[in-house]
Amino acid sequence: MTHHEPIKVLVAVAWPYAQGSLHLGHMAGAYIPADIYARYRRSLGDDVLMVSGSDVHGTPITVKADEMGVTPAEIVDKYHPEFLTYWKDLNVDWDLFTTTGTDTHKRVVQDFFTRLLENGYLYPHMTEQFYDEQASRFLPDRYVEGTCPHCGYLDARGDQCDNCGKTLDPIDLIDPRSKLSGTTPVMRETEHYYWRLSAFNEPLLEWLESREGWRPHVINFAKGMVTEGLHDRAFTRDLEWGIPLPIDDIGPGKSIYVWWEAVMGYLSAPQEWAKLQGTPDAWKDWWENPDAESVYFVGKDNIPFHAIYWPALILGHGGLNMPTNVPANQYVTFGGAKASKSRGVGRPVGWYLDRFEPDALRYAIAQTLPESNDSDLSDGEIVRRVNEELVATWGNLVNRVVAMTNRYFDGVVPTPGDLNDADTVALASRQRALDEVSENLAAVRLRAGIARAMQMAGDANAYLNDLAPWITAKTDMDRTGTTLWVAHQLIAATAVALAPYLPETSVRVLEAQGIESPDSGPVWQVPTVTGGTQLAALGPLFAKVELDLED
Ligand code: MF3
Ligand code: ZN
Repeated sequence: MTHHEPIKVLVAVAWPYAQGSLHLGHMAGAYIPADIYARYRRSLGDDVLMVSGSDVHGTPITVKADEMGVTPAEIVDKYHPEFLTYWKDLNVDWDLFTTTGTDTHKRVVQDFFTRLLENGYLYPHMTEQFYDEQASRFLPDRYVEGTCPHCGYLDARGDQCDNCGKTLDPIDLIDPRSKLSGTTPVMRETEHYYWRLSAFNEPLLEWLESREGWRPHVINFAKGMVTEGLHDRAFTRDLEWGIPLPIDDIGPGKSIYVWWEAVMGYLSAPQEWAKLQGTPDAWKDWWENPDAESVYFVGKDNIPFHAIYWPALILGHGGLNMPTNVPANQYVTFGGAKASKSRGVGRPVGWYLDRFEPDALRYAIAQTLPESNDSDLSDGEIVRRVNEELVATWGNLVNRVVAMTNRYFDGVVPTPGDLNDADTVALASRQRALDEVSENLAAVRLRAGIARAMQMAGDANAYLNDLAPWITAKTDMDRTGTTLWVAHQLIAATAVALAPYLPETSVRVLEAQGIESPDSGPVWQVPTVTGGTQLAALGPLFAKVELDLED
C-alpha cells in the first residue's frame, strides 16, 4: 500500500443527534476509528474527504426539546458547538463537520426525493398511524414505546429495538404506549409517501454478496436482513421539525423521515464542503468517480442504515458510488452497560478531556476498539493502559534516548560508525513492521494496527537493553553513538506507525528529530534521522495519570 496513485477516499462518519453530550462510546464506536483511518490514508498520499455533521432533525431532537421546555433549534445550538469542541480537543480532523440544517442539505434531500419519485420508487399511500388523543398529535416513531416483537424487550422504541438491534415500525410493538401522555395510542388515517424498498431486495443481495473484506458481523447482519425480505416503508412523517417535501400533495405538516434524510448528508456534506472551497463541483470526484472509495464509520445500531437503506437509496438515485466498506463497530460498555446518548449511560467526553491528554485518551480507545466483539472500557482500564503501556513503553523509550543523546552528545544525533548484527537486524525490521501496521490499517483492523506499532516500541526498548549504551558510554563513545543513532531511527519509524493514532505526540517526536511532515501528517515511509541533527527540546511525551477513580 505504500506507493500508489492518490485515491479519492470518502471517510463518512455517523451523524450524531445534536441532543446530548457525546460519550466515550461514540468516540470509540465511530469518530476515533474514522480519524485514525483518514490520517492513515492521508499519510499514503490519498485524497481523503472526511465528513459528518450534527443530525438536527426528527423526534430525538423534539423529544429532548419537549423535555427541556425549549425549541428544537435551541437544543441544536447547545450541542452542535459542543461537538466542535470535542473534535478540536481530540484532534479529530474533519474536512467538514456540518449539520443537516444547511440550505445545501435541504436542497440535496429535496432533489433526492424528486429523483426517487421520478424513478418510480416513491408513491403516496393512505395509511394509519398512532395518534395520541390526549395530546391531539400523531405520534412519530420515537414517541411510541412498547414490547419488541422479536426479542420481548419491554422498552423498545418505535423505530428500533435497542436490545436486539432490529429496526421496527411502531405498529410492530406489542402493548404500545405514547411517550407524550403514557396512554395507549389509537390508529388514525394519514397519507404518506412510501418507499418501494421491496424493489431492492435482489440488487442489494447481489451487491452484498460481492463485498470483500467486510467484517463478518456486518455482512452477516446485512445479508440476514435482506434475505428475510425488505418491505416498503414510509418515507415521510407527520412532523414539522424536518425537511419538508418538495411537493405538497399529501397535505401539510409532513417531513422526510429523519433517517432517510440524515444518510443523505453523506452526499450533501461533500457538496457543502465543495461550495465552501469555492469549487462547487469538486464533490463529484468522490461521488461520481468510479475509482473513488467510500468507507463508513458507524456503531452497530447504525448497520441497517449504512449497509442496507443508504445503499438502497443510492441504487434508487443512480449514478452515485455504493459504499466500499462499512466497518461498523460493536458496542463499548462501561462496567457492562452500553453507552447511549439517548439513555444517558457513560460519562461525557469532556470529563475525560479534563483529565487525559488527547493522545493518551486516543491510545486507550484505539487499544479497546470493539471491532469484532463488544469491549469494556472502564476508567481503571484507561489509566492502566496509559500508565503501564503508553508511558512505560513508548514514552519511556523516547525519553531515555533523548536523555542519553543530551547527556553524551550535547543533544546532537550522533553519526553512526560500523553497524553490528543487532543494528542491522533492528534497522531491517522497520520496513516489515510498517508494512504489517499498514496491512492492518488498510483492512480497518485498527486495534491490531496499534498493537503492532506498539510492538515496534517494545522491540526498540529490547534493542536498547541489549546494547546498553549507558554502559558502553563508559568505554566506547563510537559504539554508544551508533546505538543511539539506530535508536533514533527506530523511534522515528515507530512515530510514523503511531501517527494515525497519536497525531500530536508523533509529530512532536518527528519534528524534534528534524523530520518535517506535510500538513496532512507524516508520510507513510521509513524516515531517516540524520546524524548531526540538533534535537529540538521535547519534554516528557506523556504524563503518568493519577486519577481518583471515585470522583
Ligand atoms: N443520528 C443517528 C444516531 O445518532 C446517526 C445517524 S447516521 C446517518 O444514531 F447516517 F444516518 F446520518
Ligand atoms: Zn428486540
